[in-house]
Formats: sequence, structure tokens, C-alpha cells
Amino acid sequence: MIPWSNGSDCMNLPNLKEAGKRTKQKIQFIEEDYTLDDSLKELGMGKKYYVKTYGCQMNVHDSENIKALLEAMSFEEADNFEEADFILLNTCAIRENAHNKMFGFLGRVKHLKETKPHIITAICGCMAQEETVALALMKKYPWVDLVFGTHNIHRLPYLLEKSMANREQEIEVFSKEGEVIENIPVKRDSKYKAWVNIMYGCDKFCTYCIVPYTRGKQRSRKMEFILKEIEDLVQKGYQEVTLLGQNVNAYGKDLENPTTMGELLEQVAKTGIPRIRFMTSHPWDFDDHMIEVISKYENIMPYVHLPLQSGSNRILKLMGRRYTKEKYLELVSKLKEKIPSLALTTDIIVGFPGETEEDFRETLEVVKKCEYDSAFTFIFSPREGTPAAKMEDHIPLEEKNQRLYRLNDLVNEYANKKNQEYLGKVVKVLIEGPSEKGNLMGYTETMKLVNVDGKEDLIGKIVDVEITDVKTWSLDGKAI
Ligand code: 5AD
Ligand code: SF4
Repeated sequence: MIPWSNGSDCMNLPNLKEAGKRTKQKIQFIEEDYTLDDSLKELGMGKKYYVKTYGCQMNVHDSENIKALLEAMSFEEADNFEEADFILLNTCAIRENAHNKMFGFLGRVKHLKETKPHIITAICGCMAQEETVALALMKKYPWVDLVFGTHNIHRLPYLLEKSMANREQEIEVFSKEGEVIENIPVKRDSKYKAWVNIMYGCDKFCTYCIVPYTRGKQRSRKMEFILKEIEDLVQKGYQEVTLLGQNVNAYGKDLENPTTMGELLEQVAKTGIPRIRFMTSHPWDFDDHMIEVISKYENIMPYVHLPLQSGSNRILKLMGRRYTKEKYLELVSKLKEKIPSLALTTDIIVGFPGETEEDFRETLEVVKKCEYDSAFTFIFSPREGTPAAKMEDHIPLEEKNQRLYRLNDLVNEYANKKNQEYLGKVVKVLIEGPSEKGNLMGYTETMKLVNVDGKEDLIGKIVDVEITDVKTWSLDGKAI
């Protein structure tokens, strides 16, 4: 039996309690080549698909797998959802507004389906893993044909075949710790930079976060498979890889022969890929060896995304973050000292239950000390089933909004200050394609977006660019 064809005939609905369980059960590695039954290979012939992706890079990369699976079934990619026969929404559950966006788009799909009833509609990703969402889809959106989760993307061809044959709503979402499945085909969005998963899931259980429930237990890929994938990308001429995981610094701790992120980074650096990035880091697992390796290899980019979440020790404790403001600042000093050209970005949540003005000011103080290159800032959004959702929250929304504005003002001030340092400098930019302004665009080693004056034949190359103008969120320059 091909492991990915192996489903069950009954509905599999998500269960939050199950999803939050962690047992000592061994992780299963499925390492054989991915094959499709012949009957599936032509199922999409003459049909078009449209995949809409919400959320993080992990989802973006999952969609690259999904697209490859659909093309293996002979579907072709549509330019827009109106011309598609199969519409799939790959969803995000991290905050409430991700929910709202997806239900908004679903409304437009419903409208389209009224005129084109043959369209098959599917929902996958993190929202599908939520019990309440799956139930709502069952009760209120019976016209959604297929719902599947983050653990069974590889089963899409089989699920789709079923949906096309019987047109009854099919829900297959597993709430399990998860396995590691190698060799799912991939259709990469870029020819120059690639996402590479190094691990799945998360066991940190920060009290506000839904990810440990939607993505399962932390499971690292074996290093040999990661390196093989990157060596293959080098062969194909790729210039950059981003190593992806919810908490990449914990890479390898769960393997039967444990290893570390520092070790992995060193081996990836030796493949000769010109640029290596990694995200997301958790301050807890950022060890000295990793810092040493980043500073040692020129092809590991001097860019670290290090979520702070809060600068108040009291709130950090309530968040279950396992570090103090002092430890965080100590790590940042060490990083800045050992990697002089470092660019540092972060994530911050305001309005966590019980956050006082004093707590919030402590966050502002840490922002001043760290001088971030930029920050993603959010208002706390209660996620059903997480411990923080049950905490008493007396802060009025207006106050939360005010804190977000104040924080953003400060973040922008430093973003602008950091960018000013680039004026007149020559930096290396990987040119990714045309920019919206009609020039070219690309990113510096430190992840700054640059609009570049230059010829199209530079696309896909790392070139020297002189910075001629500076804005808060981007730089302008000319290729030299
Ligand atoms: N509310 C607001 N922000 C959240 N994040 C994660 N969960 C929540 C939540 N419930 C933010 C964190 C994380 C980023 C990806 O999203 O800052 O680092
Ligand atoms: Fe969520 Fe990141 Fe915390 Fe894991 S480490 S629970 S993904 S915020």
C-alpha cells in the first residue's frame, strides 16, 4: 500500500485536546519516492487550479507542494480564481484577522460557484486543524467540497479524486503528533531562492499560540535529506535558501541521533549555496555555537529574526516564553558583538491579558535598546483552546490600539535610522525580478528591500548596488 493513499472512509474531524498531546511515541519517517496511481495522473487534464495562500512561509512552501501535486495530476495553474475549476484556500490560524480574510474570500468563491457549480472548493492549512472551523464548515458551508489539514497534504490527489467522484463534503483532518514525509514533489515559486523545511511543528506551547495544536509535535528532518535537497538546489543554480521551522534553533534535538542547528548551518554553508537564511528563532535555543557558525561563514546571512513578544518579565512569564528581558538583551548584545553587520528584526504582541502601561513601557525600553531593523507588531488575539484565551483581559480595545500605534512609531523611527546608515554605501543585492516601479527589486544580505536601477539580465544574480536614496521600508539604488 502506498502510504499516502492510505486514508479512511469516515470523516476525520480535528480534536484540539488530541492535538495538544505529546507522547513518547516515535516519529515515523516516510522516505520512499512519491508516486501516484496511474488513475490520478490525468484526472485534472484540461482543468485549472487556483491556490490562495494565507500566513507564514511554511504555508507558502506547503502551497508549493500542493501546486506540484496538482500538476502531477495534469491540472494547470490559473491566473485568477474566476477561471479555475479547483479553488484551494491554504489558511492561517495565528490571529483572528486571518480567519476574517479567509471567510471574506470564501464568500466570493460562493458567489462564483453559483454560476459555475462544477467548481470544486477546498480548504486546508492551519484553520482546517481548528475544531470550531471544521464544524462551521460542516454546518454552514456544505458547498465547500473538501477540507484537509496540515498533516495530510500528500493525500490531496486521493482526496480530490473522491471529491470529484461523489461531490459530498469530505473532511479529513488528523489531530496527531505527526510524521516526517520526504519526497513530496514541489513547484517552487522562484528560480533563485527556495524555502527548505528543516523541521515541522512546535513543542514550546507559548500560552497565546495555536501553532503547537495546528502543526503538531516538533519533528526535525534528518540532516542528510536537507543537505541533499540543498545540493540539488545548488546544481539548479539557486542563489538562496531559507531554512524553515517554527523554532529552528531547536533543530535536531528530537532526532534519534541528536544534532544541533549550529551543526546543520555549518553543513549547509559547506554546500556552497551563496546565501543562507533561517527562520524563526526562539531566544531559548540560540546557543553560542550557532552564533559562532553564523559569524564564521560568509554565505550565512547576517540577519536574525528574534521574536521578543514582550519586554516585561511578568508578561513573558504569563506567555510561557522561558526567558527574561535580561536574558534576551544579553543574547542580542552577544549577536551584535559577534556579527557586526547584523540586522535584527522581531515580533511583538501588545495587549496580552493583564498587560499594564508599565509592562508596555518596558517593551518600548527593550525596543530602544535593541534598535531593531524592523518589527512585526500585533494586538493579542485570543485563540480558542490556548491557555491565554482563558486569561482575564480587561484592557479596552482602544487602549490596545493606542499601544500598537505608539510601538509602531518607535519601531519606524529605528527602521528609518537603520536604513539611513545605508546611504551612499555599496551593498550586495540578489536581484529577484522587476519591481512595481518598473525597475528591478531584490534584497540585501541584511534583508533590506532595494529598488534597483539596472538591466533585466541582472535578474537571478547577486550584484553590487550603490544606495542612492533611503526610505523607512525600502532603499533605492543603482547597479554598479
Ligand atoms: N495573538 C497575536 N499575535 C500572535 N502571534 C502568535 N500568536 C498570536 C496571538 N494569539 C504572533 C507572535 C508570533 C507571530 C508569528 O505571530 O508574535 O511570533
Ligand atoms: Fe508559537 Fe513560536 Fe511559541 Fe512555538 S515558539 S508556540 S510557534 S510562538
